[in-house]
Amino acid sequence: MKIAVIADIHGNAPALEAVLADIDRQGIRDIVNLGDHLSGPIDPASTADLLMARDIVSIRGNHDRALITLAPDEMIATDRFTHAALSDHHFAWLRTLAPTRHMDEHGLFLCHGTPESDLVYWLEDLTPEGIVHRSDASRIERLGAGVMASVLLCAHTHIPRLVTLSDGRIVLNPGSVGCPAYEDDEPVAHKVETGTPHASYAVIDKTGQGKADVSFRLVAYDHASAARLAERNGRPDWARALSTGWM
Ligand SMILES: [Fe+2]
Repeated sequence: MKIAVIADIHGNAPALEAVLADIDRQGIRDIVNLGDHLSGPIDPASTADLLMARDIVSIRGNHDRALITLAPDEMIATDRFTHAALSDHHFAWLRTLAPTRHMDEHGLFLCHGTPESDLVYWLEDLTPEGIVHRSDASRIERLGAGVMASVLLCAHTHIPRLVTLSDGRIVLNPGSVGCPAYEDDEPVAHKVETGTPHASYAVIDKTGQGKADVSFRLVAYDHASAARLAERNGRPDWARALSTGWM
């Protein structure tokens, strides 16, 4: 059976529509969604409406948490824009989302960053100079210790990657549906750049006996329309990232 894994939509409704259409075309019915659904200067409300209308298992990301726990004047500018664009029923939906989730029937564990944190990178790490690189194997193993599932799903860094642990469990980041590049100041200033405007997600094909094939999908969509919306909402930095995958 196949399960689609989406994450880090960041309010990009056109990208989400394209990814859901791609999933539907493959006849995949089970979708899991790893958080940071709405935060972005494109179309947060339409993104929420799309997600709420579908049978998708979703957890909460760090930006989703900020939207329901901080006052607008405590938020970063992107979250503040997002907060202003949403309605009460969108916030009510966000409040239903747990930070992590086990789906024992599929052998899955879902988290946004790591099992313990929605902010810590799992499969990537940073040098003190802010260079993003694949995390070392021992750190990846340590962060997954004791989590009982054959497939551990994470997101947050927007970088598609699959790592196999020494006991055969896999850790999978599907990449980002709606935000192919970003910069962050924490814990040190750094950039993540995938170098393509494509919308990224993954498909798990459970082949039995705990084994799973994984396909990464990069979906072309009308990124120019998403970039135009970001530009109109005062975010030329997002417009460039959406158009090119570079900051
Ligand atoms: Fe995140």
